[in-house]
Amino acid sequence: MAREFFNYIDGKWIPAQSGATIVSHNPATGETLGVVPASDARDVARAVDAAARAFEKWRKTPAPHRAEILRHVAEIIRARKQSLGELLTREMGKVLPEALGDVQEAVDMGMYMAGEGRRLNGLLVPSELPNKWAMAVRDPLGVVGIITPWNFPIAVPSWKIFPALVCGNTLVWKPAEDTPILAAEFVKIFEEAGLPPGVLNLVTGYGELAGAALVEHPQVKMISFTGSNEIGKLIAVQCAQLGKRVSLELGGKNAIIVLDDADIDLATDGIIWSAFGTSGQRCTATSRVIVTPDVHKSIAERVAERASKLRLGDGLLPTTDVGPLINKAAAAKVHEYSEIGKGEGATLLTGGDYATEGELARGHFYKPTVFDQVTPTMRLAQEEIFGPSLSIIRADSLAQAIQINNGVNFGLSASIFTSNVNTAFEAMRDIATGIVYINAGTIGSEVQLPFGGTRGTGNGHREGGGPPVLDAFTEWKSIYVDYSGRLQRAQIDTDSLVS
Ligand code: NAI
Ligand code: MG
Repeated sequence: MAREFFNYIDGKWIPAQSGATIVSHNPATGETLGVVPASDARDVARAVDAAARAFEKWRKTPAPHRAEILRHVAEIIRARKQSLGELLTREMGKVLPEALGDVQEAVDMGMYMAGEGRRLNGLLVPSELPNKWAMAVRDPLGVVGIITPWNFPIAVPSWKIFPALVCGNTLVWKPAEDTPILAAEFVKIFEEAGLPPGVLNLVTGYGELAGAALVEHPQVKMISFTGSNEIGKLIAVQCAQLGKRVSLELGGKNAIIVLDDADIDLATDGIIWSAFGTSGQRCTATSRVIVTPDVHKSIAERVAERASKLRLGDGLLPTTDVGPLINKAAAAKVHEYSEIGKGEGATLLTGGDYATEGELARGHFYKPTVFDQVTPTMRLAQEEIFGPSLSIIRADSLAQAIQINNGVNFGLSASIFTSNVNTAFEAMRDIATGIVYINAGTIGSEVQLPFGGTRGTGNGHREGGGPPVLDAFTEWKSIYVDYSGRLQRAQIDTDSLVS
């Protein structure tokens, strides 16, 4: 019998009302890891109800006290980092060092947001009238629905859950159907740390059923979503009709620009890490390299050579550089783009096919793939592939490189390799993405700065960190206190003060 996991609703671990389940597999080996509830609208309704009932008490719990629980959560995660990392590798596939990084991100975000419990800065400004106090504070929204993908099964949820909780919201979380066990283990830690029942509820299941029910539920005030553009847009439309706030963090088509004056070895390292780390399944992964003419050949040769030598395998093995893709459909999507690229006339330098030798046949492996002679308008250069597939594009100048970088319907992360400080600052000014790196790859953001992107990548909110994350999960309330003892009229009675 496979190990069984449950929904967490109102402080209790319970199955789906229908009794239906989803099996979670190891994408490297096909091994069954356990079963989780395949929830439907009834389970979601119970969870939302529990969250709604818990809200009054939680919002009135002093923020430093809320934060104390979050700090305890972060400490438990840190103590359990190795076992959580191993589970994460088994369920999601990324190599263990990256899985440990994913877990560390949750520790960092937990600690950061625990600190916010003693800040949650509002505004205090002078009033235009005498004997009047003007300030603004942050109010929680109420019940927040959180929908997350599988590629960062603990980091991305932690970017949403910690800030939403410290701000005083109560939550219903629907994790990705590919990584539900890690979600259950994460939620167990909140229970252990003493989070009151109903404040954080977990409902596992398929997006079309459980996810959609969460979006539609009238008591859910906001949806925080990370995932595909397709579903993100659908949710945005639904939320617009229902009058809900929605924070979206969607895809990327991130590029690394390498200029003629770049450190080529450093740039190559940055490209390999950003394109093939997490098998290219990061929203910040590099899928385009934009090169100027003098470095084109050497970058293409080095990158193809290094990519062809990456060792595929089970992410738990220390000999593995690149793990599997999350599932069969994901591998098929990468392959489809290899075919599209060939059809569009790009030159395949390496990869371009499934990896099925020996043990690899048990999992969803795809060979690190590099295309050269890609032009900016090819589908290969425009669409999110979300796998180990990299396109090399030539530009004649810095200006053209930046134009190509900005010329996609995404705007998450970009990087430029150059040894010229003036060029770097020009790029910092003109690159139109939410995250910019100078002389580093496109991946690896830190929690103390905002995370998110422009154009199709999002809808203007920032999560992941930095003070702006609090804006996503709070409503501003401006408060005026008049202690003059008489009726003072703003914009009207001020005239007499200056004359
Ligand atoms: P997805 O967008 O379908 O799934 C993300 C989350 O949304 C999951 O929890 C899923 O259950 C939920 N969901 C799906 N349909 C829903 C609906 N109708 N209503 C409410 N929730 C729903 O992403 P998927 O299918 O896992 O991956 C497809 C592609 O999306 C990838 O190949 C990649 O291009 C992109 N993607 C981008 C991510 C990023 O970090 N930006 C993360 C995951 C996927
Ligand atoms: Mg989907």
